[in-house]
Amino acid sequence: MAARPQGESTRGTTNPNRLRRVDNWIAATLGDALRDAPDPLVVDLGFGESPVTAVELRARLADAVRPDVRVVGLEIDPARVAAAVPAADPPGLTFGRGGFELAGLRPVVVRALNVLRQYEEAAVEAAWRTMAAALAPGGAVVEGTCDELGRLASWVLLDASGPRTLTLAARLSTLDTPATLAERLPKALIHRNVPGEPIHAFVSALDGGWRDAAPYATFGPRQRWLRAVSAVRAAGWPIVDRPGRWRLGEVTVGWQTVAPSYLTFG
Ligand SMILES: C[S@@+](CC[C@H](N)C(=O)[O-])C[C@H]1O[C@@H](n2cnc3c(N)ncnc32)[C@H](O)[C@@H]1O
Repeated sequence: MAARPQGESTRGTTNPNRLRRVDNWIAATLGDALRDAPDPLVVDLGFGESPVTAVELRARLADAVRPDVRVVGLEIDPARVAAAVPAADPPGLTFGRGGFELAGLRPVVVRALNVLRQYEEAAVEAAWRTMAAALAPGGAVVEGTCDELGRLASWVLLDASGPRTLTLAARLSTLDTPATLAERLPKALIHRNVPGEPIHAFVSALDGGWRDAAPYATFGPRQRWLRAVSAVRAAGWPIVDRPGRWRLGEVTVGWQTVAPSYLTFG
């Protein structure tokens, strides 16, 4: 008998296209791991009341990474699995019941977006450890949060030994200030955006860089973001992505500098 799915059913809200930023980042960052994998298996954990974002993930990865990518949408809510089955397109896209244990699969990539959001902060570490333990060798979990339309998003990349990076991503044309991203931090960090916590220092540094770069606003929000991220990097934050990604409204920082002290994984 299959193990009981680990976790709890939560609100199933989703929206077409809301995960495009994270999907494009997965294609760019984890594309090589998928290309090199004997079985390019991706789990979309917690796809919600409609399978639309799982359908999109498969289409994006098939297009940008490899056509034979295999996406399995897992949900803990059996009614949502049943509702998704008509959208299956095997072998590239299938649906099943599962939780943080990943239903016995060994994926190269796990995307778990807007899943931990409704859990207690204390549940994060066990969920991360369980997902990371199920990965194929060299695999990674991408766990994060976004707003309804995907204009503000953030996610943590974890490998088998723990969290590695934090990425913040925004649609720059509608971004008022980087501090707004604090509302959409991953569960591990969202309650930690308070003075004295490293994530608060990071968001404040980005916000300060954005404020100082106000004169560049006349050249457009992209130029202003590039300046803000450059300033944060110059101040010593370990920014691990390149200006090509910054231009998309992203910034990725080494996890250790933003990690809250209550987490021991990694
Ligand atoms: C808000 S929806 C997110 C839908 C989609 N991922 C998105 O970002 O648009 C969260 C879904 O995660 C599911 N869920 C929560 N915990 C889970 C777990 N441990 N394993 C699988 N699914 C889970 C809930 O049942 C719910 O349908």
